Amino acid sequence: MSLTRSVVLGCGSYLPEKVVTNDDLSKIVETSNEWIVQRTGIRERHIAEEGEFTSHLALKAAEAALADAGVEAETIDLIIMATSTPDNTFPATAVAVQNGLGITTGVAFDLQAVCSGFIFAMTTADAYLRAGLAKRALVIGAETFSRILDWTDRATCVLFGDGAGAVVLDAQEEPGDVKTDRGILSCHLRSDGSHKQKLYVDGGPSSTQTTGHLRMEGKEVFKHAVGMVTDVIHDAFEATGLTPEDLTWFVPHQANRRIIDASAKKLGIAPEKCVVTVERHGNTSAASIPLALDAARKAGQIKQGDLVMLEAMGGGFTWGSVLLRW
Ligand code: UT7
Repeated sequence: MSLTRSVVLGCGSYLPEKVVTNDDLSKIVETSNEWIVQRTGIRERHIAEEGEFTSHLALKAAEAALADAGVEAETIDLIIMATSTPDNTFPATAVAVQNGLGITTGVAFDLQAVCSGFIFAMTTADAYLRAGLAKRALVIGAETFSRILDWTDRATCVLFGDGAGAVVLDAQEEPGDVKTDRGILSCHLRSDGSHKQKLYVDGGPSSTQTTGHLRMEGKEVFKHAVGMVTDVIHDAFEATGLTPEDLTWFVPHQANRRIIDASAKKLGIAPEKCVVTVERHGNTSAASIPLALDAARKAGQIKQGDLVMLEAMGGGFTWGSVLLRW
């Protein structure tokens, strides 16, 4: 029986021009290139200039995704923007992107699930498309985490960066066979608020009337990350009957090289199937997966028909997986 699937038509990304290396950071906090590379795999990150907002990065990524997909902006009737660093408390940064693209119809809203934001946004867009609530979606992950970092805290400020990525999803009829269908094949999301104090921002409109700074118990996050992501990936394999051997590419959230390597090893995913870009942009939270997807596409890696597993874990805790065929 044929099914409506959310098929990726194209992707795009944008990184701010300014690059900050580990050596640059060693001039402002007590750290070293050696420590950062060894513990995280990160070598450099991009930082937005003053006056360059999340919406500006997102708009550039969105325009690139539309061009890659070969579709006009006015054909988009759903924009979901995953971000924890919106331009303003409201309106949603998604409407700034919508306006920038010259779209005045359809629906645009923000979604907040920190580093899992892109997975949550893809899942939400997929539900809209499969339910017939929209026909073509722009799913964006965009962040300016540099604005919420405590630049005196070496345990966190070396880890994050700014950037944006986007994909265009189109509702298409597919034969209904997970072994050959294009599009999103399964989505699995989880949240557990009992961990909310392990990775959070110590401010907000309702509590302190300030933006606040990111605080993290890094070791605690690390301890849970591998188990959580492997759980939701097992869920995807169980739901579809597909296996790690069937995967063409594994595109994980780019937080820490050690988490990526350990997850792939535990799942039996070969290292050459892992897309790793964390060394070039650090942890860009909701932007990291679409940035990695776009890098892999530009490098000629991901091609039509490839089976791709996306996963993320982050503040909340939130975590999830999306399995799709490109
Ligand atoms: O996107 C999802 C959210 N985030 C994550 O996934 C991050 C998860 N956590 C991690 O990636 C790792 O826990 C970190 C990279 C944050 C830290 O690595 P770790 O191996 O867990 O190190 P640690 O926190 O146990 O710190 C080890 C030592 C400490 O010194 P002592 O107490 O052993 O003397 C830290 O003070 O390293 C010290 N340290 C640093 N040294 C140099 C912490 N930050 C730095 C630094 N430079 N930037």
